[in-house]
Amino acid sequence: MSLLRALETKFAEFKDHCAAKYPLPSLRIGDKTAGLPIVQGGMGIGISLSNLAAAVAREGGIGVIAANCIGMLEGDYYDDPAVANVRALRREVREARRKSDGLIGVNIMVAVDCYHQLLDAAIEEKVDFLFLGAGLPIKGIPIRAIRESGAKVAPIVSSARAVRLIFKSWEKHYGDLPDAVVVEGPLAGGHLGFKPEQIDRPEFQLERIVPEVIEALGEFEARWNRAFPVIAAGGIYTGEDIHRFLALGAQGVQLATRFVATTECDADIRFKQAYLSCREEDIVIIQSPVGMPGRAIHSPFLAAIARGEKKIFRCPSRCLESCEAGKARYCISEALDSARKGDFENGFVFCGANAHRVQAIVPVRELVAGLKQGYALACFAGALKVEYEKAAERLKALKEEYAVTLAGMRAKFQDNLRRLAEEKDAWLREEKARLRERLKQIVAEYAEARSRLSELEAELGFLLSRATSLATG
Ligand SMILES: Cc1cc2nc3c(=O)[nH]c(=O)nc-3n(C[C@H](O)[C@H](O)[C@H](O)COP(=O)(O)O)c2cc1C
Repeated sequence: MSLLRALETKFAEFKDHCAAKYPLPSLRIGDKTAGLPIVQGGMGIGISLSNLAAAVAREGGIGVIAANCIGMLEGDYYDDPAVANVRALRREVREARRKSDGLIGVNIMVAVDCYHQLLDAAIEEKVDFLFLGAGLPIKGIPIRAIRESGAKVAPIVSSARAVRLIFKSWEKHYGDLPDAVVVEGPLAGGHLGFKPEQIDRPEFQLERIVPEVIEALGEFEARWNRAFPVIAAGGIYTGEDIHRFLALGAQGVQLATRFVATTECDADIRFKQAYLSCREEDIVIIQSPVGMPGRAIHSPFLAAIARGEKKIFRCPSRCLESCEAGKARYCISEALDSARKGDFENGFVFCGANAHRVQAIVPVRELVAGLKQGYALACFAGALKVEYEKAAERLKALKEEYAVTLAGMRAKFQDNLRRLAEEKDAWLREEKARLRERLKQIVAEYAEARSRLSELEAELGFLLSRATSLATG
């Protein structure tokens, strides 16, 4: 085995070990629990249908069918759009149920004309979740039917202000509250809940609005003694991103762009390939005919519209309330439906800001496994960082203790030296005095001895003289 192969094997083992140690947490919304905190964002028109939703649900995430203009899949859409939409939605929900036992949701745009029919149909089909976006889901909520069906409701918002508005209105009108909130930031795909000039401003980024929404929900959580999980969406691409948003307090994440590049995504292969071949500079913000900005991959179709060309279209029902069909140069629903089928002469592709990072079309299982590994590695790195910071702190404390101890030792040492020097001085002084005293004594003794010697000499002299006189006498 080559060294590179051996290293790859070791790293794969390490990643598996990490994934087992740091699994993605589950996501609980009311009495429903998804094994993974991943919601597959609803993608109209016809991009997220039963096939994709079921594949995500099978992996433990929440699979979502986009209801907006879903009837365009039917041959008779232009005869009666609402009937076609409801029929197609029911069929896709049933199909998803047939393909998976997991959790299935429906994404409905509040601003579409048959919003209430779609809502009723989804409730009757007993979907697990109703994700309600593109407008405030306030009016005419069939709260009893929702509660009886067991479906959980999650509005899609882009600000804390919208959350307060929705929750206060529900409290007042329904004596009830939604079950979770999807917070969609400006890096998302499709129509955006921001003005074009807000898209790049720091205060509107997902990292900023998620904590604001969590804070806004705190008031309702306290009053209702209920948890309202927040699901972050828009630009979340890797397991590390998931880790970051969960660390910010979100309970789940919603991903769409990544699910486009999967084998199971319901769009035509050419739609998916448009993600593979796009470059960062191809991703643009357009002004949609429905009056909202949207993120899309630039294409000859969009270039023609920008040049002022007008595309002929049929408008059977003014499907979006805000659409000024009379003034519009093209029909957004027709354009998106064409793109779904891979027809870029007549349509264009909606995508998230990270679509240019897509490298391959993979099965949902593989994508989810990669996200799990990325999350686990981020957890591992996070744990390592915490450990490193703790070790660094301990090191700093030890260094300080060392410096203090060393300074103490030095002081003591110098103190001892000084004391020794002082003691030595005193001893020297005493010794000097003692010696001086002794010298004095010696001098005195010497003098005494000398005088005694003189006396003795005198006595001797006297005796000698006496002895001589005796001898001669
Ligand atoms: C192709 C496409 C179509 C979308 N269609 C819808 C839609 O019909 N309704 C909706 O609420 N959001 C729609 N979205 C937004 C996604 O549900 C999701 O919240 C968002 O794209 C998440 O960001 P990401 O794509 O960076 O993961 C769409 C996004 C894409 C990429």
